[in-house]
Amino acid sequence: MSNDQKIVEDILKLKKERKAIILAHNYQSPEVQDIADFSGDSLGLSQEAAKTEAEIIIFCGVHFMAETAAILCPDKTVLMPDLNAGCPMANMITLRQLMELKKKHPQALVVTYVNSKAEIKAESDYCCTSSNAIKIVQSIPADKEVIFIPDKYLGSYVASQTKRELILWEGYCPTHRRILPEDILKRKALYPKAEVIVHPECIPEVIAMADKVLSTTGICKYAKESNSEEFIIGTEIGILHKLRKENPEKRFYPASELADCPNMKLNNLEKILWSLQDLVYKVEVPEEIARRAKRSIDRMLEIV
Ligand code: 13P
Ligand code: SF4
Repeated sequence: MSNDQKIVEDILKLKKERKAIILAHNYQSPEVQDIADFSGDSLGLSQEAAKTEAEIIIFCGVHFMAETAAILCPDKTVLMPDLNAGCPMANMITLRQLMELKKKHPQALVVTYVNSKAEIKAESDYCCTSSNAIKIVQSIPADKEVIFIPDKYLGSYVASQTKRELILWEGYCPTHRRILPEDILKRKALYPKAEVIVHPECIPEVIAMADKVLSTTGICKYAKESNSEEFIIGTEIGILHKLRKENPEKRFYPASELADCPNMKLNNLEKILWSLQDLVYKVEVPEEIARRAKRSIDRMLEIV
């Protein structure tokens, strides 16, 4: 038996004994996705966390996702195999910066992308994800000013789709920023029949070249339903594993091999095993912050 097989066996055995569940984001490494009980996008994972009967959740994603799960299920133990797995975009706005922005626009409502810290969500009116950001902004009366943080690219995409002027912040995803229009052109030249599907965290010039702009779960769903046989995928490359596994008869090409999120890839099988063995690393959100952050998440869920 190989070392990896042994680790997998140990994880499965311990997971049962501990009454734990493993959740993995669509960008995790193939072996992590394969051992997970559920893989999905940031919203799907939190919802799965909220409905599970398991007492322990091993969250394989980045910190803001585990925090969201902890906010939605305060009675469960949420563990991250590696606490260093943060999201650079979520770190691009501080509480002080948000308070200053709110002071500058006292009448504005704050819509915050889920890729943000709990303390930022706690100061927001609505949370949103890449799959529902347009709907959330559309639900706000047209005469209301809206601050959209922290992703300027998702924000400008939402502004273009809703025809609303949004007050944006200078945040962005460094991984999606690596996908360039010339990458799409190169792939299109090689695979002219392929549909181009991109994540809304991409830069506007890339979004303008896409046939579809979808969240990670949206991409997986669309790939299954579409009659196309080939796809150019403009998002983090971890998703290719799931796409290929679920659609063996179709072909998927990354828009850019450079779109590899180093934070997502900090999790691995060994760390999952240690996490289960030692019950580390616990993700907790102070009660007061969790209560206020949950309000913005609940408002989002009511709308979608
Ligand atoms: P999804 O919500 O589409 O899974 O995206 C999360 C993310 O981190 C994208 O970079
Ligand atoms: Fe954050 Fe980008 Fe990584 Fe997603 S892909 S976790 S937004 S850095």
